[in-house]
Amino acid sequence: MTRFTVNGNPVKYELAPDTPLLWALRDASNLTGTKYGCGAGLCGACTVHVDGEPVRSCSVTIAELEGTFVTTIEGLSRDRSHPVQQAWLEKQVPQCGYCQSGMIMAAAALLRANPSPTREDVRAAITNLCRCGTYPRIEEAILRAAELARAG
Ligand code: FES
Ligand code: FES
Repeated sequence: MTRFTVNGNPVKYELAPDTPLLWALRDASNLTGTKYGCGAGLCGACTVHVDGEPVRSCSVTIAELEGTFVTTIEGLSRDRSHPVQQAWLEKQVPQCGYCQSGMIMAAAALLRANPSPTREDVRAAITNLCRCGTYPRIEEAILRAAELARAG
């Protein structure tokens, strides 16, 4: 049995210890906002936060997470009021949407670590893949989210 916290709620998973976090979230907790893309740690579609750091949930087992605090896209804010979510709406970022929850979680982690990123900082930090090519709007939205966050 593995115990940790997901979006503020204590959870215990009676799953094999080597179960990837992604599948515990999606199949056992029904938190399907976190997406499966490559399953190999490459695309970032499955990005969540573990103790505030961005983690590719396909590539970490639940056994490694005992006692940690996990946040998924569903837990980023109660009402879509996180600056990244506000900026995403303002800039109309998504196309198909598949990569977007991972992008938003990666962006939120970036802004936590660096509240005033340059465009170059954004390009260096966001290594998630978007098959629809929404990268220009993603960059604009992250810079806008930083403005919104600084404005309080
Ligand atoms: S599904 Fe996890 S990095 Fe692609
Ligand atoms: S919006 Fe379609 S993959 Fe990114």
